[in-house]
Amino acid sequence: MDKFYITTAIDYVNGPPHIGHAYEKILTDIIARHFRQRRFDTYFLTGTDEHGTKIEKTAACNNMKPQEFCDSIVQIFKNAWQLLSVDYDGFIRTTDDFHEKAVQDIFQKLLDKGDIYKARYAGIYCPGCECFLNERDLAEDGLCPDHQAKPQEVEEENYFFKLSKYKDKIKEHIKNNPEFILPAFRANEVINQLEDTEDISVSRHKCAVSWGIPVPNDEDQVIYVWIDALSNYITALGYGSDDNENFNRYWPADVHMIGKDILKFHSIYWISILMALEVELPKTILAHGWITVDQTKMSKSVGNVISPGYILENFNLPNADAARYYLATCASLGRDGNYNDEDFKLKVNADLANNLGNLLNRTLNMLIKYFDGNVNESIITKQDDNKLAELCKTTSDKVKEEFNGYKIAEAAEAIFTLVNEANKYVNDKAPWALAKNEDTKNECGQVLYNVLETLRQVSIMLFPYIPNISSEMWEQLAQECDAACQTWDDLYWGGLKAGRIASKETVKPVFLRLDSEVAGKEKKKKVSG
Ligand code: ME8
Ligand code: MG
Repeated sequence: MDKFYITTAIDYVNGPPHIGHAYEKILTDIIARHFRQRRFDTYFLTGTDEHGTKIEKTAACNNMKPQEFCDSIVQIFKNAWQLLSVDYDGFIRTTDDFHEKAVQDIFQKLLDKGDIYKARYAGIYCPGCECFLNERDLAEDGLCPDHQAKPQEVEEENYFFKLSKYKDKIKEHIKNNPEFILPAFRANEVINQLEDTEDISVSRHKCAVSWGIPVPNDEDQVIYVWIDALSNYITALGYGSDDNENFNRYWPADVHMIGKDILKFHSIYWISILMALEVELPKTILAHGWITVDQTKMSKSVGNVISPGYILENFNLPNADAARYYLATCASLGRDGNYNDEDFKLKVNADLANNLGNLLNRTLNMLIKYFDGNVNESIITKQDDNKLAELCKTTSDKVKEEFNGYKIAEAAEAIFTLVNEANKYVNDKAPWALAKNEDTKNECGQVLYNVLETLRQVSIMLFPYIPNISSEMWEQLAQECDAACQTWDDLYWGGLKAGRIASKETVKPVFLRLDSEVAGKEKKKKVSG
């Protein structure tokens, strides 16, 4: 069995998660679920990044010890992922004992090798970025462009990592491996950044950063966040511990899913650390875009930061499927996406309620009306000369191919094109007219079978995106087991079995249209606010 190891960025716990964090975890979950369907031995890792001054300060503001504060925020993250049906296999916290110990081992290994050295350093440091900046990174007013703050002038004796030693090798690797940085348009950006990159500081004096992992055998220094954070991808698998079974089984990562803002840290810092450790490199670093809200960057001062649960609450949804579907398809992976209430309502009404839900509902109702809910042997169709059967096959091939390039918005579009075609097919064939005449009654049944069998396959292909709705569809089609245990091998024509599958009691809409009541609620909210 092939393996598939996919990771997300580990989130800072200086505050609760927002929809941008949720976006990344949902994209990753969809990819992991798809590869599980294809029977890859899949491991999906996520987690939290808990060290550094920002977190220490926020904890102090809340009158809490850093660890206590981290514990409380981590619980909010975990609850959010559960709410959103994000089904990870591993959750690493950089405060886990095994991680701290492994990071110290990694640091020691690099020291022993001579790739980490101590040097006096004077530079400008931005506490918001938690890193040293170059003068050229600053805005015209001398402030950090990301934090609108004046960087501190710092002179310290620190440990440095000899990144410069690996620059040529990294450049070579990027050029020779077109799938290494995705989307491909980001590769040049990294090559340009590489030109500018020098050796990096990997520790701070404990007076500057005390909430962190101590440098081994040097009690004045604390390992600086990036080496600590990035190592999570291997320490979570047991690298540097007695139990490295998972490391042998899953490494190298097939995908590091990250946001575009931290691409440099992954494709330059992390890669050079792995090269120094002589550990195999990940296959793909996949940089997604950013989510804006109402076309505006989320920020506390604008007041437009929305929580991972916002969409569910605002529209009173029973599960996260519609939010998952919207976020996964609001932009081609790598491009920025936008969330807007009205857009959301239009999109999920059109795709989930009308296109998908209605088709299942009206087809099952016709099966009840004309065949008492029975799939008779005589209406089961063959694949040959069957337009929908052919479309199912070309669609599943296309979906697979899109997922091989992690193009999950495009894959969803292909599935919904199939659903659209099935809708057109019903309208063209007019089974309600065929049902009227004994001579054409069986043809009516075959039309219904073709549509229901298509929807059976659609429910499998859509499962990674909308697991709850897919399971509901599967149940209404009265199929064995449930949607969650279907694999890509179940995408063959004729899987829908004979027998009584539907009755008035079992058929109900799988997704309720979001109606004007919601718009009314919004209006009220605005008036009263
Ligand atoms: O960067 N839209 O943590 P973080 C989409 N701890 N993605 C967004 C986003 C938005 N509006 N805002 C943030 C860190 N993200 C480090 C990572 S990995 C070894 C260490 C994404 O909490 C962001 O791009 O600031 C990143 O991938 C993730 O959320 C965590 O961001
Ligand atoms: Mg960030």
